[in-house]
Amino acid sequence: MLSYRHSYHAGNYADVLKHTILIHILEHFKKKEKPFCYVDTHAGAGAYSLQSEQAEKTQEYQQGIAQLWQQTDLPDCVQSYVEQIKRANQDDALTHYLGSPMIAKQCLRPQDQLKLYELHNTEIELLKTAMQRDKRIQIFHEDGFKHCIGLMPPQQRRGIVLIDPSYEIKTEYQQVVETLEQLYKRFATGTFVLWYPVVDRERIDLLEHKLKKSSIKNIQLFELAQSADSNEQGMTASGMIVINPPWTLKAQMQEALPYLAKHLGLNKAGSFRIEQLKDE
Ligand SMILES: C[S@@+](CC[C@H](N)C(=O)[O-])C[C@H]1O[C@@H](n2cnc3c(N)ncnc32)[C@H](O)[C@@H]1O
Repeated sequence: MLSYRHSYHAGNYADVLKHTILIHILEHFKKKEKPFCYVDTHAGAGAYSLQSEQAEKTQEYQQGIAQLWQQTDLPDCVQSYVEQIKRANQDDALTHYLGSPMIAKQCLRPQDQLKLYELHNTEIELLKTAMQRDKRIQIFHEDGFKHCIGLMPPQQRRGIVLIDPSYEIKTEYQQVVETLEQLYKRFATGTFVLWYPVVDRERIDLLEHKLKKSSIKNIQLFELAQSADSNEQGMTASGMIVINPPWTLKAQMQEALPYLAKHLGLNKAGSFRIEQLKDE
């Protein structure tokens, strides 16, 4: 039984990092005319009201997107991210947030395709409503972990897969590695993006260790912390692991992450990591 609802967390500092990187990757893919396929294995509801009961309750977006909303000195890739979210809001007021499927839809060209997976019975209906009918988009009420493998390689031979689980089930820390290995085996030139939370640092050390030992090459890691590691405070940081990243991503994040750590950190305790886990 799935209980996670992203509406409690939409627009928080983890979403800022995740969606900033996602937009940079999508924009990079669009530099070539050739079509690409974007797969979201854990899509969520697609769009969120920041005035919902859930968002009002946690107010997580206040220490996320809200800290960037009025800034005039944003690094380039953060500026592109804020511009995408502004498209869903009117009159400069921050009332709505976009999930990864809607962000991807906004970036989509006529020749590109989107494939979205969502298992939760309520979220899948919200997702279908948010995405509206669109020939380029397919939505599946299925297990994204299992089904994304069969899509590889995509017919376009250009593709991005975002794996963004809630880690409600602890075996997901192992499942993400197995999924990445299988995706890579079938489509070694694909761009694969994994989000992870830092709740217990040991789990992430193990995740990194397994990826380093795997046959996968060209892996970069980007992490943003709101506060120092602690096993008692829930999530203190989150990161994105990118396989076959655009060559421009690292330089953009070298500019963006110090800025985000400064503006989104709690009590001046924000920090970041940028690492090349495996070379090309
Ligand atoms: C963190 S949220 C996704 C947020 C979304 N990617 C975004 O950035 O806006 C994770 C979602 O995955 C869904 N989910 C959990 N297990 C799943 C699975 N095996 N396959 C597909 N969806 C799953 C949950 O119901 C939840 O809505």
